[in-house]
Amino acid sequence: MARPEKVSAAQPQAVRQAHRPEGNRRVAYRGLRDWIEQVDKMGELRRINGAHWDREMGATTQMLTESSKGKAPAILFDEVPGYAKGFRTLYGQFSSIKRVALTLGLPLEYERKVDIVKAYHERMQNMKVIKPKFVKSGPVLDQVLEGADVDVLKFPVPIHHELDQARYIGTADLVITKDPDSDWYNLGAYRCQVYDGKTVGCQITEGKHGRIHRDKYFERGQSMKVAVVCGQDPLLYMLSASPLPRGVSEYDFAGGLRGEPVEVVKGPYTGFPIPADAEIVIEGEAVPGHVKPEGPFGEWMGYYSDDVVPRPYIDVKTVLYRDNPILTCAPQHKPVDETGLLKGIGGAAEIWQALEACGLPEILGVWNHEGAPATRFTAIQIRQRYPGHARNVLHVAANCAAGAYNGKWTVVVDEDIDCSDLDQVLWAMSTRFDPVTDIDIIQKAWSSGRDPMFLPGNFNNRILIDACIPYDRKAKGKFSTVVDVSPELRAKLKAKFAKIFAST
Ligand SMILES: Cc1cc2nc3c(=O)[nH]c(=O)nc-3n(C[C@H](O)[C@H](O)[C@H](O)COP(=O)(O)O)c2cc1C
Repeated sequence: MARPEKVSAAQPQAVRQAHRPEGNRRVAYRGLRDWIEQVDKMGELRRINGAHWDREMGATTQMLTESSKGKAPAILFDEVPGYAKGFRTLYGQFSSIKRVALTLGLPLEYERKVDIVKAYHERMQNMKVIKPKFVKSGPVLDQVLEGADVDVLKFPVPIHHELDQARYIGTADLVITKDPDSDWYNLGAYRCQVYDGKTVGCQITEGKHGRIHRDKYFERGQSMKVAVVCGQDPLLYMLSASPLPRGVSEYDFAGGLRGEPVEVVKGPYTGFPIPADAEIVIEGEAVPGHVKPEGPFGEWMGYYSDDVVPRPYIDVKTVLYRDNPILTCAPQHKPVDETGLLKGIGGAAEIWQALEACGLPEILGVWNHEGAPATRFTAIQIRQRYPGHARNVLHVAANCAAGAYNGKWTVVVDEDIDCSDLDQVLWAMSTRFDPVTDIDIIQKAWSSGRDPMFLPGNFNNRILIDACIPYDRKAKGKFSTVVDVSPELRAKLKAKFAKIFAST
C-alpha cells in the first residue's frame, strides 16, 4: 500500500483526506452522513417521510429492492410516527454496486460485476492494516444516557417483517466484543432484538467470532462486556458483515482501506474503542445463564427457519447518540435483498484471498450470486493449468473460513465464462458438466438453524460442481467450438453501427 502523504496530526480528518493526491486517495467520504450526501449526489438516495416503524419501513424497502436488479435506492426514513423529526432510519445501503464501490473507495463503474471483486481483491493484496486512533471526544457523545435514563426505544426501532413479533434495533449494526485472551476487538453484524428499553438480545451463530468470544467468557463463569453500534460508517458495517480472518480487527482493516486510522472514543461503560462519529451505541453486559426467548425473525435465507429459543441478552448500561441520530437497518428476505451485493462482493474477495493463500494459480474471478444468499451459490472462474486444478479450487473455496459457513453450491468455470453472469454459468453447467464425474458432495459441513434444510446436529450437506471443459480435451483442443462473434467482428460492427450499439 502506498504511504499516506505527511500531514499535520492537528488537521481534521476531512481536511487531511482532501490534501491526499488524487492517485493516493482511498475512501473518499467521511462517515455515514457524508456517505449519504454523496449517495444523494449520485442520484441513489430516496427520502421517505411518514412511514411507520411497525412493519412499514421494512416492507417498503423490500418492495423497492426485490426486483431492482442491483438498482435499488438507499432509503432515508424521517418523520416516523411517534418520533421527533430528525430521528431517522437508513435502509438499503448496499443494494447497488456503485454504493459498495463508494464505500470501499474503489472506482464506481465496472463492465462486469466480478470486476469490483477483482479490484477489491487487489486492494487487499497491497494493504497494510492501520490501528484505530483514540480521540478525546466525538459526535457520538452528543447525548449520553445512563442509569434510569437508559432507553433504547428513544429511537424509531422497527418491526421489520410482517410475521416478526418484536422490534430489532440491530441488523445493519456492529457488535463489538473483546477476546478475553488477547487485545483483539472483533466487530460483527449480529441481530439485536429489543425486549424493553434496558434489555436487548444478540443472536450470534456458533463459530462466529463474537460467539467464540462470548463462549470463552461464559465457560469461565464471567460476564462479557459488549458495545452494539447501530448507525455508523458503512465501511465498518460492511467489514463487520464480511468473514475477515480470525484475530483481525475490522477497525484495523478499515484503517488500511482508508489509508488512515479510524478515530475512536473510549466507551464510558466498556472502555472499548467506539467510532467517534457513530450515530447510536448501546453498551452493556451479557451474563452467563441469563437468557430470554429470541425471535421469530425473518431470516437471511428468506424464511422463518430459525427456532425461537432462549438466548443470552444484554443488560444495557449506557446509550450514546448523536443529535438527530440515524439508525441503520438491513432486514433480509427472499431475494434479492439489500445484503446480496454486500455478501456477494465482500465474501467473494475473501474467498479469492484464501484460494491464493493456498497456492492455487490462475484464479480469475469469484462471485457469490445475489439470489442465493451469502455463499449459497459461489462461482469461481479459473484458467485450468493442470488436471485436477478445478477440483482443488472447489474444495478450498467451499471449506476456507470465508466460504465454509452455510454454503450450498460451489461451481467452477473456465476463463471464457464470466462467473458473475448467471446465464453464462448456467450455460457452462449445462454443456461442460457430467453428473457422474463432475460432482463432489461435502457432508456434515458448518451450518446453522437459519438453513431450512439443516440436519440433526446442525450440519448441512453441499454440492461442488466442476463445470469446466475436461482438462485433457481442453489442452488438446478437442472440445466443441463455441458459437460466438469474434472480438474483431464485434469491434468492426460497433464502429460501423455505433448509434445502435450505444443504445443497447
Ligand atoms: C444484515 C445482517 C445481519 C446479520 N445477522 C447476523 C446474526 O444475527 N447472527 C450472526 O451470527 N450473523 C449475522 N450476520 C452475518 C455476520 O455478520 C457475518 O457472518 C460476519 O462475518 C460475522 O462476523 P465475524 O466473522 O467477525 O464473526 C448478519 C449479516 C448481515 C449483513
